[in-house]
Amino acid sequence: MAGMTLLKKGAEAELYVLHWMGRPSVLKRRVRKAYRNPDLDAYVRSARTSNEAKLLSEARRLGVPTPLVYLVDKRNCEITMSYIASPPLKRLIPEMREEAIVETFKRVGEMVALLHKGGIVHGDLTTSNIISYGGLLYFIDFGLGERTSDLEPRGVDLHLMRRALESSHHEVSGIAYASFLKGYSHSMGSTSKDVVARAESIRRRGRYVEVGQRRDA
Ligand SMILES: Nc1ncnc2c1ncn2[C@@H]1O[C@H](COP(=O)(O)OP(=O)(O)O)[C@@H](O)[C@H]1O
Ligand SMILES: [Mg+2]
Repeated sequence: MAGMTLLKKGAEAELYVLHWMGRPSVLKRRVRKAYRNPDLDAYVRSARTSNEAKLLSEARRLGVPTPLVYLVDKRNCEITMSYIASPPLKRLIPEMREEAIVETFKRVGEMVALLHKGGIVHGDLTTSNIISYGGLLYFIDFGLGERTSDLEPRGVDLHLMRRALESSHHEVSGIAYASFLKGYSHSMGSTSKDVVARAESIRRRGRYVEVGQRRDA
């Protein structure tokens, strides 16, 4: 397509900014992975593309801001969606004051509760996959998301957010995660206790594996 500017080249996908029907848009294309069997590769890329497109729209119906999906091309593993003109939260956090971090992560928690209550888990919940724009928090990158109300994948969402905060934003990870949990628990209601406990146990399991690996090394 003419007028495409590379936005980001990730491990799985290339993202371009372009104009679609005159609107600033993002094209996300899942690229071939040489290490996968070609048939499996085509299947995985196509399945994640349609999964992502569906969940972007479903999340939006639940009241969680997401880019509008304009076009899905399963064959070429491409999604064309509206462009949210702001960098991801990950890039903004270093510039944010503590009060803004507290407020933002409380709202992130509320949004994740909306997803969970609506029967969706994100599957890759990190600060790279949330964009703050126009007073709203947009959630993106739903390729690993699922429709489920199970405790385990909900716990994984919380765990991944905590891990992302600890690895990329260590100085503020404590207040950010506490605010996130506050927003999440408040919106989620009584079931949040079980999800938070499950996230804790996933963290302990993770630690255990890490210790095990170190011993083997
Ligand atoms: N609709 C969009 N509007 C603006 N930026 C976007 C949009 N979609 C993705 N991005 C940017 O591109 C990055 C990678 O996109 P993402 O869907 O998360 O793919 P990946 O699977 O490579 O992580 C995001 O972190 C974000 O900065
Ligand atoms: Mg991403």
